[in-house]
Amino acid sequence: MSRLARVHWLLIAIGAVAWVCYIAIYYGGMALRGEWESWNLVLHNLYSPGEALANLSIGLHLVAGALITLIAPLQLLPGVRARAPKVHRVLGRIYIGAALIAGIGGTLFILLRGAVGGPVMSVGFGLYGVLVVIAALLALRHARRRELVQHRAWALRLFALGLSSLLFRYEYSLWGLFTGMATHDPVDFRGAIDFAMDFFFYLPTLAVTEVYLRLPPRERRPAWLRLLISTIVGLGALFGAVALILAALAWWWPKIDLTLFG
Ligand code: HEM
Repeated sequence: MSRLARVHWLLIAIGAVAWVCYIAIYYGGMALRGEWESWNLVLHNLYSPGEALANLSIGLHLVAGALITLIAPLQLLPGVRARAPKVHRVLGRIYIGAALIAGIGGTLFILLRGAVGGPVMSVGFGLYGVLVVIAALLALRHARRRELVQHRAWALRLFALGLSSLLFRYEYSLWGLFTGMATHDPVDFRGAIDFAMDFFFYLPTLAVTEVYLRLPPRERRPAWLRLLISTIVGLGALFGAVALILAALAWWWPKIDLTLFG
């Protein structure tokens, strides 16, 4: 791994742990205390008394989503794959299982209750859920058939999709920094930027993955391409670090603070 790739990996890992702390402490903490309505402080339709299946779907999706987010950085580590292939396989199976639960749970929630942002968000997130399930099943199938080139391609697409949920929060925090949240509807997510984000949080990430999968091997890349990649990855790390700090301060810490000290 190059130094820049290590910096990126570390940023993804720190962001993943911070976000999972928020999910576990806030959603887990309020559930343990029986304060289910408090789930609606972020998105007002997450919990609805008497709708057990929809509540269970989004709840399972949160647990599975947290698991995906924590395991993903470990699966990327070449060292784990090379020196502890058994660990990679076991984590891989848990990761695929969690991806299926997050995808099916999130999509079922949409079918039963609809997304807070209305039909546009339901279609955007629904497509996202279906893509997560397809990528998980194909990554597993190619691994089982020892077709490692295709397995790697689908595993990277699944990683990109899993990371996209975190990027959803990063992109909103950067939009806030640069535009003061122009056109954002914080209650029903039905502003112009919200409709764009319903698809933008995962399609560009998939597009970047497709470009990455088609790059020539590192040793055959011309100097201009190496420079371009380093610049893009470097800027990505810089904006990623800023977005992580903003998201943690603006959204995650206030809910952790409310749950622990509120
Ligand atoms: C990959 C890991 C994922 C994580 C960690 C995750 C996490 C979350 C969290 C924390 C929320 C609550 C809002 C917030 O507090 O920010 C949420 C909402 C939601 N997520 Fe996910 N999610 C993941 C994947 C998915 C997938 C694959 C789907 C598939 C459809 C999905 C669909 C939804 C929906 C529909 C909502 C509720 C939006 C609304 O209120 O209408 N998520 N997710």
